[in-house]
This record gives sequence, structure tokens and C-alpha cells, in this order.
Amino acid sequence: MMYQKGRYDKSNLYKTMNKKAIKLSVAPMLDWTDRHCRYFLRLITRHTLLYTEMVTTGALIHGDTARFLRFDPSEHPVALQLGGSAPADMAHGARLGADWGYDEINMNVGCPSDRVQNGRFGACLMAEPGTVADCVAAMKDAVTIPVTVKTRIGIDDRDSYGELVDFVGTVAQAGCDALIVHARKAWLSGLSPKENRDVPPLRYDIVRQLKRDFPHLTIAINGGIKSLDEAQDFLTDLDGVMIGREAYHNPWMLAEADRLIFGDESSMTSRHEVLERFRPYAERELASGVPLNAMSRHLLGLFQGQPGARAWRRRISERAHLPGAGVELLAAR
Ligand SMILES: Cc1cc2nc3c(=O)[nH]c(=O)nc-3n(C[C@H](O)[C@H](O)[C@H](O)COP(=O)(O)O)c2cc1C
Repeated sequence: MMYQKGRYDKSNLYKTMNKKAIKLSVAPMLDWTDRHCRYFLRLITRHTLLYTEMVTTGALIHGDTARFLRFDPSEHPVALQLGGSAPADMAHGARLGADWGYDEINMNVGCPSDRVQNGRFGACLMAEPGTVADCVAAMKDAVTIPVTVKTRIGIDDRDSYGELVDFVGTVAQAGCDALIVHARKAWLSGLSPKENRDVPPLRYDIVRQLKRDFPHLTIAINGGIKSLDEAQDFLTDLDGVMIGREAYHNPWMLAEADRLIFGDESSMTSRHEVLERFRPYAERELASGVPLNAMSRHLLGLFQGQPGARAWRRRISERAHLPGAGVELLAAR
């Protein structure tokens, strides 16, 4: 059953989103972490916090709100990422997110794409700490769930540690509950968004320094993290670790997250079981008109490194978009 507006008890939800939830998360990724992807990842890990794709306030206010916000109750804990820079619009988006039952509202201050810059949001807002602070304050006034900010360590030539400290201080003072820091700067012109995720060097040391300088602020680190072992290392001095591409391309890397990161021994599963449990969901969604391909594309990394993985992947890639493609196509080799 899909979540329906107004059905969820907000106060119960808030209890599910405690400081523990931020210990491990899957990053917001446009076109990737849609509700089907999140449903699938949730079958692998019960506790890892999942972020939506970025949703712009414009799309939320003028578009089909239900299309952007609906999610399955099993996705909790799940955070809504908003893109925007007008405090009133961000507050409105946050309120919608809270009403729909999200566990956290996150503001995007990390995306460097031209489209986002034209809308004056994303990473370019690092140059406007006051605007980000106003947005955070407006969202905090509007909702009782945590309000967080995802940012970079700098933009263009404005990448001194002093400027980062000013930004973080201003945003923290506005009531930001947690900061997720992609540990590289962004070049606002000259690099594509994809290059901006690889070319500027990773500076984990800067994120660690931030935590030393803001010990009371909840800080999660992001960028280039590929294993739970690495995540555990970071958790010795930081509050959270966010994993993006590796979790998408190799989702089974999250299989031990519940045990290793959250201390829950009870929820181990197998790849085949995940697939079995995804089938009824896929059947339901197919029946409501979602094409198989829209779901199956997120599953392709499940058997990465296993015998027969390539053939399984190829079968799905070649056939899932064909008319009439059904869940039997997902069956393991
Ligand atoms: C396909 C794709 C889409 C992304 N979309 C978003 C987005 O909507 N919002 C955001 O804050 N970051 C976005 N990112 C950046 C990731 O959240 C993350 O910060 C980045 O990939 C670095 O983490 P990683 O090295 O673990 O992948 C995106 C990344 C990818 C690969």
C-alpha cells in the first residue's frame, strides 16, 4: 500500500529519525534514487537512511506534488532533498514533505549544474551563507522533523577554510540539525556535474577539521566512499557517512550495514531473497502502469561479481523495456 497523505503519525515518525539514523545513508541522486530504487535498497538494509532525488521547490509547488512525494511506508527512514533558495518556498516544500511523512528535510547546497545555478540554488549558494541560513530558519519554523544541509567544501576560488567555517557557522546558527559534506570543492563553470564528482580532489581532512571546530554539530561525510570498512573508520570521529555511486552500482555492499553500523544482527538476508521480496512490489507497480524497466534498471548491480551476473543483467537490460515485460524477467539465473 502506498503512503497516503495525512495517514502517518508525525510524532511517531520523528522518533524514528534520531541521531543514529544519520550514521549511514545513501546519497540523493537525480534519476537514480527514485522510490523504486529506495524500495529495493530498503530490502537490503533496514536502517540505512535513504535520500530522495533532489526535488525543486518550483516542481513541488507548481507540479504534480504526489508524483514527486509519494513513497512506500517501508522506505522509512527517508529524507526529502529540496532544491531552492527562497525561504518561503523552502518552508512550503518542507511542510509538504513533513505532511507526506518524510523523516528529514535536506537542502541541496552541493549541486553545480548550470540548470541549478540558473535557478540560483545548489552549490552556488555556498557564496550566500545568509540565504542558506534564512532557508534553514524558515524550514525549522515550518516543521518539527530535522532540517539538514548537504554541501561541498568550497566553490571556485572561494575555497579557503575560513570561508567554509563562516558558511558552516552561519548555517549552524540558523538551526541546521546536521550537515552532510561532500569532501571536494565544485567548479561552477568549466566542469560538468559528472566531472565535478571526480576531478576536484577529495579532502577528508577538511571535513574532520570541521568536526573538531564544530564538535556539537552533527556532521556526515560524503565522497568516494566505497566500503563499510571505510565507513566504520570515518565513524570513529564523524557522525555519519553518506555513500552515493558505490551503493547504486553495487547495492549488495550495504548488506552488512545493519549489523556492522547499526548493531542489528536480526536482519541479514540474501540476494535471492531480496529479489523474491521485490517481485510482489514490482507486480503491484506494473499493475498500476509503471513499466518494468523503470524499476529493474535499479537492480542491475545486485549480483555484481557473482557468477552469471552478466547474463542476468544483459537479459534484463535487453528485454525490460519491451511491451509486456513482466516480473518473471527478474528471476535469478
Ligand atoms: C547520478 C547522480 C545524481 C546526483 N544527484 C544529486 C542530487 O540530486 N542532489 C545532491 O545533493 N547530490 C546529487 N549527486 C551527488 C551525490 O549525492 C554525492 O554527493 C556524490 O555522488 C559523491 O558521493 P559518492 O562518491 O559516494 O558517489 C548525484 C550524483 C550522481 C552520481
